[in-house]
Amino acid sequence: MIGDVVETEQCQVKDPVDLFHAGQVVKICAPMVRYSKLAFRTLVRKYNCDLCYTPMIVAADFVRSAKARDSEFTTNKGDHPLIVQFAAKEAQVLCDAARIVCPFADGIDLNCGCPQRWAMAEGYGASLINKPELVRDMVRHVRNQIDNPRFSVSIKIRIHEDLKRTVDLCQKAEASGVSWITVHGRNVEERHQPVHYDAIKIIKQSMSIPIVANGDIKTLKDAENVHHLTGADGIMVARGLLANPAMFAGYEETPLKCIQDWVDIALEHGTPFTCFHHHLMYMMERITSKQEKKVFNVLSSTSSVLDYLNDHYGRRRRLPLPAAPAGGTGSPAPKPVPLARTRPRSLPAPSRVARRHQAQPGAGTAEASAEMTFQWTAVAIFLYGEIAVILVLCLPFISPLRWQKIFMIPLWSKMAIFWNKAFLTIIVLLIVLFLDAIREVKKYSAAHVSEKAVNVNTNAFDHIQMKLFRSQRNLYLSGFSLFLWLVLRRTVTLLTQLAKGMATQAALELQVNNTTEAAKKYITENEMLQQALNEKGSGKKKESAEATDEKLKKEIVHLKAELQKTSDAHLKVTNELTAVKKQSEGLKREYDRLMKEHEQLQNSLGEAEDKKDL
Ligand SMILES: Cc1cc2nc3c(=O)[nH]c(=O)nc-3n(C[C@H](O)[C@H](O)[C@H](O)COP(=O)(O)O)c2cc1C
Repeated sequence: MIGDVVETEQCQVKDPVDLFHAGQVVKICAPMVRYSKLAFRTLVRKYNCDLCYTPMIVAADFVRSAKARDSEFTTNKGDHPLIVQFAAKEAQVLCDAARIVCPFADGIDLNCGCPQRWAMAEGYGASLINKPELVRDMVRHVRNQIDNPRFSVSIKIRIHEDLKRTVDLCQKAEASGVSWITVHGRNVEERHQPVHYDAIKIIKQSMSIPIVANGDIKTLKDAENVHHLTGADGIMVARGLLANPAMFAGYEETPLKCIQDWVDIALEHGTPFTCFHHHLMYMMERITSKQEKKVFNVLSSTSSVLDYLNDHYGRRRRLPLPAAPAGGTGSPAPKPVPLARTRPRSLPAPSRVARRHQAQPGAGTAEASAEMTFQWTAVAIFLYGEIAVILVLCLPFISPLRWQKIFMIPLWSKMAIFWNKAFLTIIVLLIVLFLDAIREVKKYSAAHVSEKAVNVNTNAFDHIQMKLFRSQRNLYLSGFSLFLWLVLRRTVTLLTQLAKGMATQAALELQVNNTTEAAKKYITENEMLQQALNEKGSGKKKESAEATDEKLKKEIVHLKAELQKTSDAHLKVTNELTAVKKQSEGLKREYDRLMKEHEQLQNSLGEAEDKKDL
């Protein structure tokens, strides 16, 4: 997109600091992400707004990305005095951003008040109130590097619980040459609590530069009260102007004329529908019933919104006259003047110094966040490379054997020495990136949920969403790269093994065929020999079998006769044995009898001798 920027003479407009010395309280339209854009600034300027801020822009993205510059910053000739608000945490980056907008704006403001979690986590916004030295350095750096002395450098802060720290911060900023300080009278934790105007008063009393009071100013009367309470030199309004862009002109509620003006301006600037519709919802908040809101808030096209407005406030029901401006300070709405058509021109390219920051990852706009860093671009290219190689390896008409031949090229064997090391290094790198992506996804998922719950700022929500998207994309990139890397290695291994297997199979098949052939040959030969043998030996065999049979028969007869003989002999021996046995028994008996006779004879012989002796 080309910025809606017109050629302005360099920083020619009135010095915004002069506004603070004109003896009147300066009425300022606050920086509002998504809302304080050119069309809205044009509207509030029509209703007595003295000074307008752009929405907060992340300086690093602005410097780095032409897309961010085109989408985040648009201005035109009538858009003065204009302060461009940046979120920054490095002096040089802020300086580079300031240099880019210097020809088109009247000053820059450093956001030191955004309390949103993502901003604080990235070192932007309200986290800076705890780094007074850094704030001082950033202001001093811009002061020293921007030649135009009329170009203002301001800061917008929240207060500390310990007010002394806020005073210290402001004094340091003052010493470094800050043009004025806007104080939102709440601390970082506070959202809807009452604003500490007493704190703003103390700050004002401690400083010699202009102080702007901010917080809960809804009408011009409120503005006067705050001025009296704090002594502030200016008042800054955000939500009050969203609800009633004509409030600085003294209107208590949005006049229909202002709504009409918004429609004209928004259409002329080509404002996107959501922004166009949201502003109308804010403006009509107090002047429409609940029922009307239900219908109006769900309209989804410019034509339906215009039809609604025509039906409700158009020719049939004339727009009611605006309420009389409250109090004497407000002047009536100026007559609408036709808007000068603006000539589109793109913003200048960042300076060489600015380009140094291009590679820095950081918070940014949706567009900028979607851009890939070098490291992730490399991972994406690597992933596509892997896919291409795997596709080629899987081509059906290239056989594994051919791959084997390709793998056998000497070049690969030389590379194979490094292959394992390279493989492991890439695995480790991808795992580290994968874990980092998981950490980011966790971080931004949590932030996404909490921002959604807080629902303060749609742009911040988009920002977180974009970060979440980016971290998820990185997770997929690293995860798939890791997975395909393993698949690739396995595919190469399998192809090699398959090729080896195929070669072995072919060799075995050949061997089996040869063996089968040989076996067939042997079997045939064997059969032939057998046959020949059978033919020769069949007559003789019969004869010899008969002879053997006869011989055997004879042998049986012979054996039978032998057996008979043996059994006869055995019987004879048995009989003889019995006779001998009987004879021996008779002899034994005879012997016993003789023994007895002998004994008797001896006894009788002994007795005869005894008698003789006597
Ligand atoms: C929709 C919206 C967007 C805002 N965006 C920014 C911003 O970009 N930068 C900033 O410093 N403050 C921003 N603020 C805070 C306001 O500038 C202001 O400090 C705060 O709303 C208190 O003022 P108020 O009571 O007048 O609304 C934003 C506030 C709202 C409601």
